[in-house]
Amino acid sequence: MRIAILPGLVLAIFLIFSYSVADSPEFPVLADDAEVAVVLDLLGDSPSPNKPDMSVTGASAKRGEELVKYGITTRPEGGRTSKQSRHFVCTSCHNQVKEDPDLTKVDPQARLDYARTYNLAFLQGTTFYGTVNKRSWYNGDYYKKYGELVRPAQKSLREAVHLCAIECSQGRELEPWEMESILAYFWTLGYRLNDLGLTPTEMNTIQQALRGEGDQTAARQLIHSKYLDHSPATFVAPPEDRKAGAGVAGDPDNGKFIYELSCLHCHEDERYSFFALDNTRMTFRFLEKHLTQFDRYSIYQVVRWGTSPLTGKKAYMPQYTAEKMSVQQLEDLRAYIQQQAR
Ligand code: HEC
Ligand code: HEC
Repeated sequence: MRIAILPGLVLAIFLIFSYSVADSPEFPVLADDAEVAVVLDLLGDSPSPNKPDMSVTGASAKRGEELVKYGITTRPEGGRTSKQSRHFVCTSCHNQVKEDPDLTKVDPQARLDYARTYNLAFLQGTTFYGTVNKRSWYNGDYYKKYGELVRPAQKSLREAVHLCAIECSQGRELEPWEMESILAYFWTLGYRLNDLGLTPTEMNTIQQALRGEGDQTAARQLIHSKYLDHSPATFVAPPEDRKAGAGVAGDPDNGKFIYELSCLHCHEDERYSFFALDNTRMTFRFLEKHLTQFDRYSIYQVVRWGTSPLTGKKAYMPQYTAEKMSVQQLEDLRAYIQQQAR
């Protein structure tokens, strides 16, 4: 008799208890769009050294957003700042939204397909979305390009912003309040739980750990396993024999999207470059003619090596790493140029 009642009683108590926990205001059910960084903080993760210092007079996420998108904002003491760069804005080369469908993978073709679906640009720089969730920047082969300059940038988001503002944007230094503003803006672009593709069971694991009923370390590890903590970068050289190319057949249909979502993003109507590209046969013929040549108009050359910057003097084109344009994709672009030149 007792033996039969006991499990039922335990179950009832458990149900009442868990129901009241779920309902109690101290333990709200995790929102799907809760910020990953906040959840990790609550789970006892080590605090991020990249939080903005909002005690710096004038620091604001709105100013940061304006600097990133327009290169200019209002000064804390009134008036406008000078342009951060004469050539670029940060968004010339970086998106502000999620650009990889699966945050655990680097897959340029999956990113291109995603860019097509959501009408995003396909660029050399990594999106700012989720940059605050990362633990290092300017990874992989970037030390080959910037040497010792990347060492501090690898460890600090502030230093990465500083390096890019000077070296990529070819612009002026940021004032302290501008730097903190950009960081504050970046913190509005952190990953949300629903970016991570968590199953209901996994959400539950996290929820339980937050209530102190589960293993916090395991919950943190689970969250960290759902996204890359850095953006890998591998430099690739152009094919040695530019006539033969990489030796794989290109798909012009795919190449079209690279041309439109990448090349035209900067070159259409001379948006960020004095070198104009468009959809005329003349333009494609020009690109085709130079394809196999060893000059600065060869797509093999500019895509893999970029154009060289003269500090502060000139706009330059950043190279595409293997992660930002695969060998296959470059052949697809070539196939599209050749198809359109005919
Ligand atoms: C001309 C193109 C260009 C412009 C303009 C530019 N960037 Fe970059 N940026 C890059 C490239 C290329 C990289 C290295 C590859 C990458 O992002 O993964 C980079 C890297 C970064 C990184 C490190 C990303 C990472 O995950 O490793 C940050 C942060 C950054 N830029 C911030 C900025 C900010 C802020 C601005 C505007 C003030 C800016 N960038 C303007 C091209 C550019
Ligand atoms: C982030 C912006 C950006 C993207 C994306 C971009 N370019 Fe460029 N590109 C530039 C800039 C800036 C220059 C420097 C030339 C100038 O402005 O005078 C340049 C230079 C070039 C040049 C050499 C022109 C010269 O006068 O030396 C070629 C060719 C070229 N780009 C082709 C391409 C192709 C093809 C793509 C697509 C795969 C592409 N670009 C994507 C910004 C970009």
